[in-house]
Amino acid sequence: MCSEKSFTAVTCTAPVNIAVIKYWGKRDEELILPINSSLSVTLHQDQLKTTTTAALSRDFKEDRIWLNGTEENISQPRLQSCLREVRRLARKRRGGKDDDATPRSMSHKVHIASVNNFPTAAGLASSAAGYACLVYTLAKLYGVEGELSEIARQGSGSACRSMYGGFVQWVMGQSADGKDSLAKQVESEAHWPDLRILILVVSAERKHVGSTAGMQTSVETSPLLKHRAECVVPMRMEDMTEAIRQRDFERFGQLTMKDSNQFHATCLDTFPPIFYLNNISKHIISLVHRYNAYYGETKVAYTFDAGPNAVIFTLDTVVNEFVEVVKHCFPPESNGGTFLKGLPVSPTTLTEELRSAVETELTPKGLQYVIVTKPGPGPQPLDDLSDHLLGPDGMPTQTARVLTTEALL
Ligand code: DP6
Repeated sequence: MCSEKSFTAVTCTAPVNIAVIKYWGKRDEELILPINSSLSVTLHQDQLKTTTTAALSRDFKEDRIWLNGTEENISQPRLQSCLREVRRLARKRRGGKDDDATPRSMSHKVHIASVNNFPTAAGLASSAAGYACLVYTLAKLYGVEGELSEIARQGSGSACRSMYGGFVQWVMGQSADGKDSLAKQVESEAHWPDLRILILVVSAERKHVGSTAGMQTSVETSPLLKHRAECVVPMRMEDMTEAIRQRDFERFGQLTMKDSNQFHATCLDTFPPIFYLNNISKHIISLVHRYNAYYGETKVAYTFDAGPNAVIFTLDTVVNEFVEVVKHCFPPESNGGTFLKGLPVSPTTLTEELRSAVETELTPKGLQYVIVTKPGPGPQPLDDLSDHLLGPDGMPTQTARVLTTEALL
């Protein structure tokens, strides 16, 4: 924490999470209460993260927020919910007492700056990391502790799962006020050390139908979604938890693929239908099934969110060969360093037999790049003052102004 007479700033980071049992559909739009529980894996922040600085000063005239260097409207309802709830907890904690002269006075306005090191709204769950980071950072700034996933949920549903590392459940809850709709860690990031995650970036463009609007139409029109929430997900939550506890990749991978497929089936069952998968996504699905069929077991598993990018789960012993298979089927523009980002991958030679087993048509430049990562921890505070994205004048620093996508290159 940086603290001068009238300026206090805190900087924290938060991770992206990828659901293996999907959240799709709300029973309460304002409180963001889901129609089913969900389960996700938190990705390592070495590869994908949001960084946020929040600062208080008696000199600030109004609350303000900058995302990736651009000032955004802070009166947006979801931002307001998060701010209001953290401030409410802070007031409660201080027992109603507040001293105008302290740097962390409730009467001071807040400035917030946030950056992602990955493309925003490319189907890479940027809102989850963004809201988790916002709530965690504000809580640190105001000295609030305890259960924060209930507040992050009110920013974006999936954000509540980014409040923990490893394997995380969002328990849907029953109450009308949402007090029991919380994230809970199932296992920590250390539980399954050889699990790996590959993100196959098909398109970095903004998605056509956002999750919020998409799921609203699905709730209104899809009978399959209702059946899924009531009859399929409850059993899958138990099954998936068990598969994770036992580190049973066969069971984990099969369930992950089936749940992704059912989510996209509910999108097709929505009227008018929503299509998030494109031809490259479908090509990846068939490649995964061919690869698994060649070995007669589930070695890799895919999942897709509200966009065409594929997230592949596998084990570290499989990564080198599967990446080679991906490069073979989607020949990159250049074979240089920029196609593969993240954890190191060693080149291998594919046998002729495997090549012909997985080969359908080749799609040159079908993928932009691949990020290799693993499960990681939850939000973290940064202690170094040089990490702050706001200067002592309360304005974004150079780092906050430059889009940091390059950090991955
Ligand atoms: C397909 O959390 O982005 O990624 O609550 O309206 O902000 P809102 O939606 P959001 O939806 C995520 C949907 C998903 C599946 C998942 O992450 O569980």
